[in-house]
Amino acid sequence: MKTIFSGIQPSGTITLGNYIGALKQFIELQNEYNCYFCIVDQHAITVPQDRLELRKNIRSLAALYIAVGIDPEKATLFVQSEVPAHAQAGWMMQCVSYIGELERMTQFKDKSEGKDAVSAGLLTYPPLMAADILLYSTDLVPVGEDQKQHLELTRDLAERFNKKYNDIFTIPEVRIPKVGARIMSLQEPTKKMSKSDPNTKSFISILDEPKVIEKKIKSAVTDSDGIVKYDKELKPGVSNLLTIYSIFTGKKISDIEAMYEGKGYGDFKGDLAHIVVNALKPIQDKYHELMSSEELDIILDNGADKANKAAQKMIKKMENAMGLGRKRR
Ligand code: AQP
Repeated sequence: MKTIFSGIQPSGTITLGNYIGALKQFIELQNEYNCYFCIVDQHAITVPQDRLELRKNIRSLAALYIAVGIDPEKATLFVQSEVPAHAQAGWMMQCVSYIGELERMTQFKDKSEGKDAVSAGLLTYPPLMAADILLYSTDLVPVGEDQKQHLELTRDLAERFNKKYNDIFTIPEVRIPKVGARIMSLQEPTKKMSKSDPNTKSFISILDEPKVIEKKIKSAVTDSDGIVKYDKELKPGVSNLLTIYSIFTGKKISDIEAMYEGKGYGDFKGDLAHIVVNALKPIQDKYHELMSSEELDIILDNGADKANKAAQKMIKKMENAMGLGRKRR
C-alpha cells in the first residue's frame, strides 16, 4: 500500500481554504493509502504564537481532522512535536539545504516582508517539511497550491541526499486538487485565504457561527457589474465565491452562472451562505462532541506511538548514511 503524508499548522482555526485544498483530499484518499496526518506545531512556531492559544489550537485541530471525516482507525493522526524524529531529521535536512534556495521560497518572502525580526525557523521551514514527508517514505503529498514550491524543494533535497549519501528516500509526488487548490481571501480576492490573516472578515473558519458566515459572505468583495460569471482575471471575487459554491453543491460553474442569470449578487451570496452554513453544521456538531471527550487524547497518543516507530527506522538510516553517532555492535 502506498503512503501519504500531509500536515496542517495549528496557527489558528482552519478555514474553508484548508478544508477544500487539503482536508477534503485527505478524506477521499484515506481508504486507498497508508496515511499519516500531522498537526505540525513545530512549523507554527516559525512565527510568534501565544503559548496557551497554540496548545488550544493543537487539540482543536485534532478534533477538526476527525470531525471532517478522518478515521483514526485508518489514518495515523499525531502531533509533530510528540515525534522527536521530525526535529532530528529536520536538522539533517537543513544540512543538505542551501541558504540561497531557502531564501527564494515565496512563503518565506511573503511572511518575512517588512518584518524587523524574522526567525531563522521561518527560513528553515522547508527542510523541516521535507523531513516530515521523507521520514515515512511518502509516495504522495496532498496539499493546496501554495505548498507546491515547498514540495518541489522536498524532491530536490531528497534527490540530493540520495545521491550524496545513500539512496534511502522515496521521491514524493505532489497532489493538488483540480478545483479549489487556492481559495482566495474574501476581502482581497487576489490573495489566498489564510487562517492567520489578521482581518477575520477575509476568511471563513470551519467553526464560524451561521450569522458570522452569512455576514462574511455578504461583505465579500466582488465588483460593480452585478453579473454572476466566472472570470478569474477580471472578476476574482465572484469567481472565488463560484468555486466555493460549486465545491459544496457539486454543481458545474456554468450551471450556477445560468441559475443566477439576471439576478444580482444579493441572491447569489444569500444562497451561498445558506449552503456553507448547512455543510459546516455536522462538522461543528461532531467537533463539539469530540472536544468534550477523552477519546481525542487516546487517538493522539496512539498516533504518536505509531509515527514514532515508523520514523525511528528512517532516522537510523539517515544517521547511518551521514555517519552520525557510533557504530553499534
Ligand atoms: N487558501 C487556500 N486554498 C487552498 N488550500 C489552502 N491551504 C492553505 N490555504 C489554502 C492548504 O491547507 C494545508 C494546510 O496549510 P498550513 O496550515 O500548513 O499552512 P498554510 O498553507 O500557510 O495555510 P494558511 O491557512 O495560510 O496558514 P497560515 O495563515 O498559518 O500561514 C496545506 O495543504 C495548504 O496548501
